[in-house]
This record gives sequence, C-alpha cells and structure tokens, in this order.
Amino acid sequence: MSATPKNLPQAGPTLRATGYQSGFANEFATEALPGALPVGQNSPQKCPYGLYAEQISGTAFTAPRHANRRSWLYRIRPAAMHGSFAPLPHARFHNDFGHGPVTPEQLRWNPLPIPETPTDFLDGLFTMAGNGGPEAHSGIAIHLYAANRDMDGRYFYDADGELLIVPQQGRLHIATELGVLEVEPQQIAVIPRGVRFTVSLPDGAARGYVCENFGALLKLPDLGPIGSNGLANPRDFQTPQAAFEDREGAFTLVAKFQGALWQADIGHSPLDVVAWHGNYAPYRYDLRRFNTIGSISYDHPDPSIFLVLHSPSDTPGTSNMDFVIFPPRWLVAQHTFRPPWFHRNVASEFMGLVHGAYDAKAEGFVPGGSSLHNCMTGHGPDAATFEKASNADLSRPDVITDTMAFMFESRHVIRPTAQALAAPQRQRDYVRCWQGLRKHFDPTRR
Ligand SMILES: [Fe+2]
Repeated sequence: MSATPKNLPQAGPTLRATGYQSGFANEFATEALPGALPVGQNSPQKCPYGLYAEQISGTAFTAPRHANRRSWLYRIRPAAMHGSFAPLPHARFHNDFGHGPVTPEQLRWNPLPIPETPTDFLDGLFTMAGNGGPEAHSGIAIHLYAANRDMDGRYFYDADGELLIVPQQGRLHIATELGVLEVEPQQIAVIPRGVRFTVSLPDGAARGYVCENFGALLKLPDLGPIGSNGLANPRDFQTPQAAFEDREGAFTLVAKFQGALWQADIGHSPLDVVAWHGNYAPYRYDLRRFNTIGSISYDHPDPSIFLVLHSPSDTPGTSNMDFVIFPPRWLVAQHTFRPPWFHRNVASEFMGLVHGAYDAKAEGFVPGGSSLHNCMTGHGPDAATFEKASNADLSRPDVITDTMAFMFESRHVIRPTAQALAAPQRQRDYVRCWQGLRKHFDPTRR
C-alpha cells in the first residue's frame, strides 16, 4: 500500500499506473490517499475525505465464501451519477450469433486490418462468434479489436460479462475504476463485469482478441495430481493499486447491456475511486510465466494440460469457457507423433495466434489470425506438418521457442457471426490444407 503524494495521479486523459498487488482473487486493500480506507467497517456514517462508499458484487451475495467476489469502493461520486442512457448503434460489436444453421466446416481468418480512420478500442471491436447470452449468464462472445486512437473522454463498462483481453499487437493502457493495467502482447488483462474503464494506446495502434464471458467468473483450475504448483501460479497475477482522477468535463459513459450499447453523458471521470478493498478487481497475467507441463515419456497429452483460466459450468469438469495457451516448450516424447494429433471434440475451439508460429500448421495461421473448429469437426496438423513430424528424428528433444497460440474453448457450439463469415479476411480455401494428406495404407505391410 503506497500513499505518498508523489504517487498521486495527475489530471489527464488517463490514470497513471501506481503499482500492482500479487495474487489471484485475494482480499486486496489499497488506497491512493493515506487513511482513505475506513478502518474496521465498510460503510461508516461519514467516509474519510468525504468519499462515498459503494459495493460492487460480481457474485450473488450468498455465494459460498470461497466463490464470493465483491469489492468496496470509496469514491468521489457514486456510480449512479450520470445522465440518461440512449442507444448507441455499433454494427460490428454485438451478441447476435444468428439462429439459423451453422456450417460445420473448418474456418480460418487472416488478421483484422488496423483501421485507416480514427478508431478507438470500443469502435474497433468486431464480433467474430459466440454462444449463449447475457440473459442466461452462460456462454461467451469472441471479438477482435483493431484500433489507432485513445478512448478520449469515453468510459465503458460491460454489464453482460467479464472481458478477457489478449493483445496481439501494441500495448494497452487500461485505466479502470480500481487502478491501471498496462498490458503488452503475451500478457492478458481481465476486466470484471461492470467495472468502468478507458483504453489508450501507447504505441499508437493496437490489435488483439477479446473473450466476453457471460458465465461464471474465470478462475484458476484445480491441479489434481500435478500438485500444489504449476500451470499459471497465483502469485503471477497482478491487480492494480488504487489510482483516481478528480476530473470534470463533458464525458461519455458507454454501457453494454443485453447485447446492445448505450451511452449517457457524465460530467466527471468515473475513475474516481480513491481507495478500495475486496476481491472483485481487474488483473493482468504474463503468459510467459506459465509453467508448461507435458509428457516426458510418450504420447501427447490433451490440451487441458495447458489451461490458464476457466469459467466453470454447472457440470463438473465441463467448462463454459477454457482459456488455453500453447507456449514455448520442449517436445521430448518418444515413439510419438509430437504435434497436436488429429482429433474431433465435443467442445468447440476458437484459436488465435499472438506471436510466432503454431506447431500444427505449416502456413496460413499467422499472428493476429483466427480459426474455428466446432463440435465434432475434424481438424489437426496440415499435410506438410504431418509429413515432417512423421519423419522427425525422435532420438533428440525438440524445442519450440518462438510461439504463443491460445484457444477459447467452449462446451457450447461457437456460432460465427454473419459478418465473420462474410469478412474479406476469411480464408475460403482453408479446408484444402488437409487435402494433400497422402494415403499411406498398405494391407501387405504391417
Ligand atoms: Fe483442436
């Protein structure tokens, strides 16, 4: 907890970072002014510095203690203070996944281009696919973003779900009510449902992926026989220290509510939380900290071994959404086809590539690109990768050093949006990457 005057943010378009606290969903306590946090109670008759006390709850009040998530905010003005909401049209960012037939075909896209006209993070969102919806608190939406200007004077919150942001190009400066997250490619940020934020772009342009999770809050997986360490370790998750701006002006508050956007005038910055405590807060994680675990004897484990965070469903072991990464790692398995094998899956898989190359595809899946393999759709290495891996020298280990791919996997079919299917960046010949697989079968040769 730091509270010296030099740590105070200056008035400006966004807050400055003041530091981080480590841990996953711990009970954090942080104040940007000394003594701003009430001692021993949550809502005293009068709060220090004339602040308002306000609770934000991300789970039911009566959720079991281990799953209960809420924070107490001490702020200059309460969140209720803003003008009337009016619809804000946004043709590209929505939760309309259609109701008609869904193609079972394998789908792949080139990256979303960086816009040529001024476009902020919010305007730069493009919905690719999804399932379920915010009404039922179940399912996900998958969006891309490509932007080239700051959200100047615009603040956003998503009432429909928490946002898992996966930058692919350019850093994001995400100023939230609870503090500042700076993230770069190969890091992720999670913004809880309802938390207000604004995004600026230190590198001038940015692109990446967003999973909007309508379901249960993301959590770390249980580790079972792996033991008490490994995969993503709790200490590597970082939650911001409190930071606030005391700023008045003609600003806009944008809300996403039930799949549509709404905007209201707001005469002050909603990033005015001077102190907070609790366990419902934004966080970031560096994917390069992931402790990758795999086979050291033979065969290729299921990709669940690469699980970073998951949104559980009501069925044990079956996720609303799994966030899985394919990071740099050693491949040492003997007598084994080392890349991901051919498979079909009851779950549905949306993949993206943050950096480098992906070991199951020789070409066509580039950083910023996407692929979608839905329930029971066959997929796996392309022909070139199959031939190479089938004839690889297994007497020595292989190391993959230059890669960071990820997957949003869902128990529900992931429906591509009409705009994703019609997009010029769709690779309409993707299915041909498997057509070159040769017939090796010979009944006379065992
Ligand atoms: Fe797969």
